[in-house]
Amino acid sequence: MGFRAHILGAAAGGGLPQWNCGCKNCNLARSGDIPSQTQSSLAVSANGSDWAILNASPDIRQQLAGTPALHPTGLREMPLRSVLLTNGDIDHVAGLLTLREMQPFTLYATAGIHEVLEQNPIFAALNASVVARRTVTLDQPTEIAQGLLATLFPVPGKVPLYLEGDVVETELLGEQTVGVHLRAGDQDAYYIPGCATLNDDLRTRLQGAALVFFDGTLWQDDEMVRAGLGQKTGKRMGHMSMSGKDGSIAAFADLDIGKKVFVHMNNTNPVLRPDAPERARAEAAGWIIGQDGMEVTP
Ligand code: MLT
Ligand code: MN
Ligand code: ZN
Repeated sequence: MGFRAHILGAAAGGGLPQWNCGCKNCNLARSGDIPSQTQSSLAVSANGSDWAILNASPDIRQQLAGTPALHPTGLREMPLRSVLLTNGDIDHVAGLLTLREMQPFTLYATAGIHEVLEQNPIFAALNASVVARRTVTLDQPTEIAQGLLATLFPVPGKVPLYLEGDVVETELLGEQTVGVHLRAGDQDAYYIPGCATLNDDLRTRLQGAALVFFDGTLWQDDEMVRAGLGQKTGKRMGHMSMSGKDGSIAAFADLDIGKKVFVHMNNTNPVLRPDAPERARAEAAGWIIGQDGMEVTP
């Protein structure tokens, strides 16, 4: 059995529906007219029996319960070998608190992201005697589960919302926001759930890739402002939008990529409605709209 990628959660922070949101999509999800989606996470494996989880979402308890491949195989034996973080955002780290209970696994992140966790004493709930925290150096392949290599690389983004100061640099390049290149034998894939802009370095890396999971937060940069839900644009949140001349659909148009899958979609994104014209446009451009439980192979 080869490389497998299983979308545990296709939504951005908040999920679909978001607890306090009465927007069109959230109401349609509540009434069961469109599928609900949990928060941002991907499970990956090279052999189907040893798994790594990329980002631990606040919905991880429900995600694990709903994914038989990740169920216990013995009294306290788990197929989960590791968790790898791509940033310190709440939607990507809060699930670590659910993973306490003295269960061994390895927690992988850059030094910068480990430092953020260390500043928050609540994460000591992951007892250091069983959960090893390993620092991953950028551009250095690390085996995160049997036969599965992960290489982290910098992606334009910002520090987590809860660490923002008065001035926020939204296209920082360093250890705070990273993408992941996964390799299992001769198969590979990329996972980039947050990205402010597709710079030349990323374009070069992704050219010719078999499979890319990519930031699908918003359809349109000012979508949340237009919907009356707040003042923040996608750019301010460190996310490039799908549509428009600076959008991901345009940016990927001249890259040769086998499968392109949108993940980390905000609940306002119209592509979450199966009958939306925006979804048809994304699909016509070759994109797959990720959803919870979807399994994608390169
Ligand atoms: C983001 O992806 O922009 C963040 O997860 C936002 C948040 O922390 O809610
Ligand atoms: Mn997020
Ligand atoms: Zn909503």
